[in-house]
Amino acid sequence: MKIKKAIIPAAGLGTRVLPASKSVPKEMLNIVDKPAIQYIVEEAARAGIEDILIITNRGKVAIEDHFDHSFELETQLAANPAKASLYESVKKCSSLANIYFIRQKETKGLGHAILAGKSFIGNEPCAILYGDDVIINDENPVIGQMCKLYEKYGKGIVGVKAVPEELIPMYCTLNVTPVEGEERLMNCYDIIEKPKPEQIMSPYAILGRVILPPGAMDMIERGVAETPEGKEFLFTDTLTELGRAGNLFAYDFDGRRYDMGNKLGMMKANCEVALDHPEIGAQFREYIKELASKL
Ligand code: UTP
Repeated sequence: MKIKKAIIPAAGLGTRVLPASKSVPKEMLNIVDKPAIQYIVEEAARAGIEDILIITNRGKVAIEDHFDHSFELETQLAANPAKASLYESVKKCSSLANIYFIRQKETKGLGHAILAGKSFIGNEPCAILYGDDVIINDENPVIGQMCKLYEKYGKGIVGVKAVPEELIPMYCTLNVTPVEGEERLMNCYDIIEKPKPEQIMSPYAILGRVILPPGAMDMIERGVAETPEGKEFLFTDTLTELGRAGNLFAYDFDGRRYDMGNKLGMMKANCEVALDHPEIGAQFREYIKELASKL
């Protein structure tokens, strides 16, 4: 079954990048000249995903505005031939894909946010792209790599990367074995969220991209319903359930990932993307060299 729909949860509070995220959604913080969430929408669109649901909340209208037409701006730019490429870049924002929005009415965690997309997804498989994880691979978008594997095997997939051992307790740890004949694919049997050092099973952690098979939304719904008031349902619990039922792969994706939810990640993203930028790349490279020589 082909994956045609994606959910981008973008309703978190973004406390790690305050005060920048106080009135600007963290998903709208820029990497050079585009907001983080545009890179994510472009990744999904390039993978052939036509329908994208963005989960927002009452403080995130800037996201909706960004993917809408900006009539006045577009009219002004269109009237000036010298601004043709700017016009194209602005116009493109509203035609990347069919983009829908729904609000998560209470900030009750990632699983609860994804559940807001249940009726949008119906009984189809879907791609989940975390709204603050930008993953760059211009030739072969990471979510497209994962969609192809879903089409081949029909199982849930978590995008993973090896992380340094001392950081694993901040993420999760996965029990994995290689899949024969597939270079980057692993069976994933179990997951422990925020493990103690003695619980670490492999260097891999889940980073920002997931494929959910049909039925996973029902599992999330059950988990949310069974979670006591005041406690957060962990999305990882659904992934663990899929893994224990033999229905989950881990995929060591091929792409550069930037965590836009923390300050260092934001700076790395801006720096590395600027170095490759067609307009400012060469000048920025000279600047970085000069700066580095003084450090
Ligand atoms: P994070 O845990 O990284 O986002 O969730 P956060 O809660 O905003 O982070 P901090 O700790 O306060 O800085 C990953 C993705 O899930 C979304 C976030 O917007 C982010 O894109 N999310 C998180 C929701 O949509 N709803 C939530 O209740 C929590």
